[in-house]
Amino acid sequence: MGIKFMKTLIVGATLALGGLGVANVATASDAGGTHKLEHQKWGFNGMFGTYDRAAMQRGYQVYREVCASCHALEHLSFRHLADKGAPFYNADTPNPNDNDVVKAFAKDWSIEAIDQDTGDIIDRPGIPADKFPLIFPNAIAAAASNGGAIPPDLSLITKSRTGGADYLYAILTGYHEAPHDFHVADGTYYNTAFDGNQIKMAAPLSDELIEYSPYMVAGEHGAEPHEVAAPVATTDQMARDIVEFLTWAGDPHMEARKRIGLATFLYLFIFALLLFLTYKTVWRNVKH
Ligand code: HEC
Repeated sequence: MGIKFMKTLIVGATLALGGLGVANVATASDAGGTHKLEHQKWGFNGMFGTYDRAAMQRGYQVYREVCASCHALEHLSFRHLADKGAPFYNADTPNPNDNDVVKAFAKDWSIEAIDQDTGDIIDRPGIPADKFPLIFPNAIAAAASNGGAIPPDLSLITKSRTGGADYLYAILTGYHEAPHDFHVADGTYYNTAFDGNQIKMAAPLSDELIEYSPYMVAGEHGAEPHEVAAPVATTDQMARDIVEFLTWAGDPHMEARKRIGLATFLYLFIFALLLFLTYKTVWRNVKH
């Protein structure tokens, strides 16, 4: 009887863990497109996965200096960059509106606003509470500037495409010379990861396109913030960094969720063990 109970427990736990595993495989294996996506190693995958702060900070720089001339991040406000778990969180200024780095970033953007005295529409420097601005006023303008294609909003891009992070990485590094028998239409570019292999986005990244600025990594658990040497901005490096940043943007609470999940699992496991021991004690002297 005791053995049976233990068996049920083990089967239950295995099923629960198996469920997690199956869910992971399902999201990773149904990648669309015309070719099979190569799986990359990402630190944020798996049960214990976390984001790489330094990579996210570099990723923001890639967004600001490269992607932001065409793509918006409409679901994000500047202050989100300074939330707990976000790329620029600083424990000394836990209120994102007081975060100096993010204040400086926001100021660097021009935000359309209404003048409180005249009612005129004016441009003013951003503040942390502002949303990231739209890059084009509407879809017609966006298409007109991009050969008829609309650059999609990037705030949920890793969530909205099958393959997620792997797909985004594959698009950014998928520009190659087209095979001889492949006709690339005017205004499109050959890309191995894009559906149909032709994309109306010219390769946005090239080796050393930008220079990474040295940056501070916020000290966690009371440690002092420290400066991190910036790597060379190769295409591969920039692609990985923008993937890290955009994956966080699409799922900013992933780390907290995993922490709670693991704690819950541990709690249930210990609870089940105690239950089993109680059962053994209570039935100790009963013949069965
Ligand atoms: C000069 C404008 C421009 C820049 C700069 C640019 N893109 Fe694009 N991007 C586009 C356009 C236009 C499309 C739509 C292409 C199409 O539908 O054929 C697009 C499409 C995409 C897609 C979508 C693919 C899909 O599945 O629909 C992703 C992802 C993407 N861009 C990421 C980025 C990232 C990341 C950067 C910065 C490193 C960037 N882009 C820089 C114009 C740009």
